[in-house]
Amino acid sequence: MAIDWHYPRTDLTERLMSAFDQRVVEALTLFAPRGMGKTEFVRYDLIPEAGKRGYVPVYVNFRDKRDDPASVLLAALRTALSDRNWWRRRQRVVKAASLDEVESAVLATESPAIAPDSTMLVELRAHFLELIQNNDRILLCIDEVQHLASSRAFENLVFFLRTILDENRDKVRTIYAGASRDGLRNLFCRRKAALFQSSSQIELPTLGSGFIEHMRSSFQQASGRDFSHREGNKAFDLLNRVPKELRLVIEKMILSGADDIVNEAAVLSEGQLERGDYEKVWKRLKGLD
Ligand SMILES: Nc1ncnc2c1ncn2[C@@H]1O[C@H](COP(=O)(O)OP(=O)(O)O)[C@@H](O)[C@H]1O
Ligand SMILES: [Mg+2]
Repeated sequence: MAIDWHYPRTDLTERLMSAFDQRVVEALTLFAPRGMGKTEFVRYDLIPEAGKRGYVPVYVNFRDKRDDPASVLLAALRTALSDRNWWRRRQRVVKAASLDEVESAVLATESPAIAPDSTMLVELRAHFLELIQNNDRILLCIDEVQHLASSRAFENLVFFLRTILDENRDKVRTIYAGASRDGLRNLFCRRKAALFQSSSQIELPTLGSGFIEHMRSSFQQASGRDFSHREGNKAFDLLNRVPKELRLVIEKMILSGADDIVNEAAVLSEGQLERGDYEKVWKRLKGLD
């Protein structure tokens, strides 16, 4: 059987979903720096649980097409309309992109921002309403939401979202996820984006020993080799407790046959420091967000 590398955040999922169920909140904003597991949580924990509870999930990632968020939203609505169970057929193994890949993707796609025209907004509205009419509960997941603050061209899309969500409070729950606190604050504080002010903000908890144990047992299954919990923990510390980085280290160990996880983690973090990559990329990403 295929190894499930995903470590489920069961408690967090339960807490957020009951807050949505009981209408404690209509919207939540999830913060954490890149690589900490926001997308993974939304796609592999929250959405499946929401599906079980009768919500129709809609997943939008505004980084998928940075110049045209409206078309990303439209595609997500179409998917939800045409295929109620799209999320069940997800690919289990999502390979983590390295920071270099992320950076070059960011730099390569700097085409001019497209403001949705009225035809697009009419179409978005029609799709939204169809979804709302046919379903009792919708979970709208908006990933990389801070991207909407990156251009004035996106302001009418923000306004559109605010209006449609305001009009349909009884049926739609929204989760926003974003990496940049500043970018999000920007978005929340703008007068036109008052929508976001009404969302409760939570920080994605840092993963701990449960995650390390899960990685240990997955590594054992995949390679027949082992590392101790203490070593795993030390490696995770060296990687600033960024799950994406631990996954990269383990992947490398499986491919190269290396055994010493602490050493591999040290090599990865030193390499990043030496090249000055991490900080550089990090600053640039923050600036762009
Ligand atoms: N709960 C988890 N279980 C296993 N791996 C995880 C988990 N959360 C994050 N990861 C690893 O970290 C990578 C980055 O996570 P991601 O959700 O894309 O981060 P973010 O959206 O916060 O930038 C994932 O591709 C995966 O390799
Ligand atoms: Mg993400």
